[in-house]
Amino acid sequence: MTDRRFLFLLSSARSGGNSEMLAREAAAFLPVDVAQSWCNLTAPALPAFEDLRHGASYGPLSPAMAELADLTLQASDLVFVAPLYWYSLPAPAKLYLDHWSHWMRRPELNFKARMAGKRAWLIMAHAGSTEAEIAPAREGLRLATAYVGMMWGGALICDANAPGDWQKDPQAQSTAKHFFAA
Ligand SMILES: Cc1cc2nc3c(=O)[nH]c(=O)nc-3n(C[C@H](O)[C@H](O)[C@H](O)COP(=O)(O)O)c2cc1C
Repeated sequence: MTDRRFLFLLSSARSGGNSEMLAREAAAFLPVDVAQSWCNLTAPALPAFEDLRHGASYGPLSPAMAELADLTLQASDLVFVAPLYWYSLPAPAKLYLDHWSHWMRRPELNFKARMAGKRAWLIMAHAGSTEAEIAPAREGLRLATAYVGMMWGGALICDANAPGDWQKDPQAQSTAKHFFAA
């Protein structure tokens, strides 16, 4: 076993969609000794995030959020599997990032220091958007993950609309085969 552990964070509002299927295709090409885990950020839904930075302080994480924070901290690589929704990340992926603001403020987690050096990746389906329309979502994620010291692995982008359409984007499919090796 290597010490690389990939955590795939699903955030589409449908299961088995283009982003997920493309992510599963890319994951199939990871070396067998690389651990993979998959976490659906939509079910169960994450709790609302509360900004308590400047008033009451943040309490300990709930058991469910502690489990998610632990999965995150155990991973070497976080793969955001996130279709383009309104030129942005889907709400569950954004909400997950918002919760980092809490996790960063719990000293026992030592979150920021432990996130530094991990790698962030994006696998995203969109329906006919241009590079200029995709860039804000991708760059927003890149900046958020860089804020906690993560490195950027890259983005695997697929032009697909209805489920299964990912198989009609030959460029995305061929990139998937070596995406994580890059
Ligand atoms: C709420 C919503 C917003 C969307 N916004 C965009 C968008 O801004 N740009 C775009 O190209 N496609 C947009 N789409 C289309 C999806 O990105 C596309 O259907 C994609 O294949 C869905 O990925 P999935 O199968 O992984 O869920 C949107 C779809 C939904 C449901």
